[in-house]
Amino acid sequence: MLEIKNLSFSAQGRKILDDINLTIPDGKLICLTGPNGGGKTTLAKMIAGVEKPDEGQILLDGLDLVPLDPTERAKAGVGYAFQQPVRFKGITVRDMLNMAAGKTLSEEELANVLREVGLEAGEYIDRGVGTHLSGGEIKRIEIATVLLRRSRLAVFDEP
Ligand SMILES: Nc1ncnc2c1ncn2[C@@H]1O[C@H](COP(=O)(O)OP(=O)(O)OP(=O)(O)O)[C@@H](O)[C@H]1O
Ligand SMILES: [Mg+2]
Repeated sequence: MLEIKNLSFSAQGRKILDDINLTIPDGKLICLTGPNGGGKTTLAKMIAGVEKPDEGQILLDGLDLVPLDPTERAKAGVGYAFQQPVRFKGITVRDMLNMAAGKTLSEEELANVLREVGLEAGEYIDRGVGTHLSGGEIKRIEIATVLLRRSRLAVFDEP
């Protein structure tokens, strides 16, 4: 269970998140909607640890994530896919999926995870992730990396 309690964040003198309270139970898919500039990405970054709140708590199964850096949060079970995925240069789709899984995946495992995100392995597996993939393609591959991590909590910013 994720519990967000009294979360506030200001930047450049503007209050971006104002006393947010939210509980996300286990096993649920929750969609957060709102206008452009409404604070959705900011809230997602607070959960992943990319930004820190001014006030409030973010409890994952009772553990407060706020003092933890993004790596520690990932280890605690938080997965995160950016609104604009990072395009790492010099590595292939295969490299990126293996890295996410923390092991060398078989051809079958690679094909299965790509199929889960609607991509044909043969077409993508040895392509570089740094260039030439379309916005939707790199997005799907990033979602595959989050699925492979089998996180307790996965946050997808505009999947
Ligand atoms: N570090 C920052 N410094 C100043 N302003 C910021 C900062 N981070 C976010 N903002 C502002 O906070 C507001 C919320 O931004 P955020 O990216 O969270 O919105 P969003 O709901 O994800 O929007 P969108 O639907 O366009 O993705 C925006 O007005 C943005 O310009
Ligand atoms: Mg956003």
